[in-house]
Amino acid sequence: MNETIQKNLEYKKYVIDSKLQYFKPHASKIEKTFAEEISFSLNRNTKFISPKFFYDKKGSDLFEKICTLPEYYPTRTEIRILQNLQDELPSFIDNSYRLVELGSGASVKTRLLLDIFTKSQEKTEYFPIDISEILAESSEQLLQDYDNLHITGIIDTYDGGLEFLKNYDKKNNLIIFLGSSFGNFSHIDGENFLEKINSTMKSGDLFLIGLDLVKDTKILESAYDDSQGITSEFNLNVLSRINDELDADFDLNNFSHYSIYNKDEQRIEMYLKSLVNQSVIISKSNLSLNLKKNELIHTEHSHKYTLDQIKTLLKKTGFNIIHTWLDDDTYFSLTLVSKN
Ligand code: AVJ
Repeated sequence: MNETIQKNLEYKKYVIDSKLQYFKPHASKIEKTFAEEISFSLNRNTKFISPKFFYDKKGSDLFEKICTLPEYYPTRTEIRILQNLQDELPSFIDNSYRLVELGSGASVKTRLLLDIFTKSQEKTEYFPIDISEILAESSEQLLQDYDNLHITGIIDTYDGGLEFLKNYDKKNNLIIFLGSSFGNFSHIDGENFLEKINSTMKSGDLFLIGLDLVKDTKILESAYDDSQGITSEFNLNVLSRINDELDADFDLNNFSHYSIYNKDEQRIEMYLKSLVNQSVIISKSNLSLNLKKNELIHTEHSHKYTLDQIKTLLKKTGFNIIHTWLDDDTYFSLTLVSKN
């Protein structure tokens, strides 16, 4: 049995109709459960909760709200850059490309790229890769709005999805990773991830990455601590999620949202601060947690980059830079690369 077939055996295929199919890993794929990860990450001196746990239904809705806040410049800036790409991207991709998206949450941006693809292609293929089943909902919406669209959704982690794509077929892919989601990675994990993407790509494939740029501390800090308190709600919501899903008794009134720009590390650091000495039971993680007044639980890093760092990083991980697009204020960047 060849490798490709063997790999695809780990996925179950769901054909909805001629324009929509999904691949989902068999349940046997071992992944640490939410309960186990929390039991590890809170049972230590420096406590943390992984940002991937922000995105339950409520958290995803709150994130969508964040994207429209006046202080949160990344989304609207990236959208503006994508609008300017309408005329320019077609000179870099011909009709043979399909669109592959890592983390397909933000459908406004997907649409701007689908506009480009569907304008010139008779049939456009779109492969969203997302861990969340929300993928199904947004796919059906897209199919209603684009006549010549065919969607193959891969409901899996980025790593799983990339592995799936690796030997899938010979068609050219434009892989997109938008919103500066990459900023959540530490430097070492980020490099490994880019190398992973690189090793997934065939020689004709392209990769478009959206990255947030270093800028004035005040602008950065207010983007992550907005005046309506939505980011605070988003951060605190992860505790409600743990209460609901892991039978815990966090009292949200005993915590506050805290975020700060670490200039040396070039990143926003987000925490939940314990306002009192307290203990919390997390039943399904078998954990009785003691927190001191002012103790911090780390929840997110959001790295910012200079244009030079972006170039160095992409070259180091095996890419050729084709073009970088910026907004007028140089707040945000989109970089198109090919495999070296
Ligand atoms: C989805 C990781 C890109 O880092 O800006 C927004 C998440 N956290 N406000 C970001 C987030 C708080 C966002 N990313």
